[in-house]
Amino acid sequence: MQARRSHSKVTDAAPSHEELGRIVSAMNAVADHSNLRPWRIIELRGKARKKLGKGLAKAAGGDRDKYIAKATRTPLVLVVVVSPRQSGKVPLWEQEAVASGVAHLLGLLLHEAGWGSIWKTGSYARSKAVRKAIGVKRPEYLLGWLYVGGIPDRDRKPKPRKPLDIDRHLTVL
Ligand SMILES: Cc1cc2nc3c(=O)[nH]c(=O)nc-3n(C[C@H](O)[C@H](O)[C@H](O)COP(=O)(O)O)c2cc1C
Repeated sequence: MQARRSHSKVTDAAPSHEELGRIVSAMNAVADHSNLRPWRIIELRGKARKKLGKGLAKAAGGDRDKYIAKATRTPLVLVVVVSPRQSGKVPLWEQEAVASGVAHLLGLLLHEAGWGSIWKTGSYARSKAVRKAIGVKRPEYLLGWLYVGGIPDRDRKPKPRKPLDIDRHLTVL
């Protein structure tokens, strides 16, 4: 976990749909109140990535080429969607916490499998135009997407992270 780093620059290699399926299958280990599984991942490759780019451009009011270039910067884009379920017991914030856990674990497992990723939102992840472009209908909404690809410099050791101030993050009452 300490070795994970986000990778904004990746190569054209990507995990196959089958490999991704195995990684996503592990998400049944995420803590999930009432096991609602209130999330889904949308896999975008090839031309499908352009849909995200077009949605971003629409939300931004133009610059299609720029946003299509952004959305196609990596061979694989994984959109993380909160899919709220009806529940008298589990409020929306708890369901979003589950989807957020999935997004974090997805990045970690991709890293463990040797793939690079970075979680992005930008300004338009919650826009209707982006939702519409990739077939996400209310009450579903996006937590952003992971850009995924091969790690270009796998032998390079990552810079150590700044240590946490443990007294701030672990307080004793
Ligand atoms: C919900 C969420 C949204 C994010 N959105 C962006 C974004 O739009 N652009 C960006 O550069 N980084 C974004 N980040 C941060 C990166 O994913 C990444 O964590 C950061 O570059 C630090 O790298 P590290 O993960 O190796 O510490 C986001 C992170 C989270 C959790």
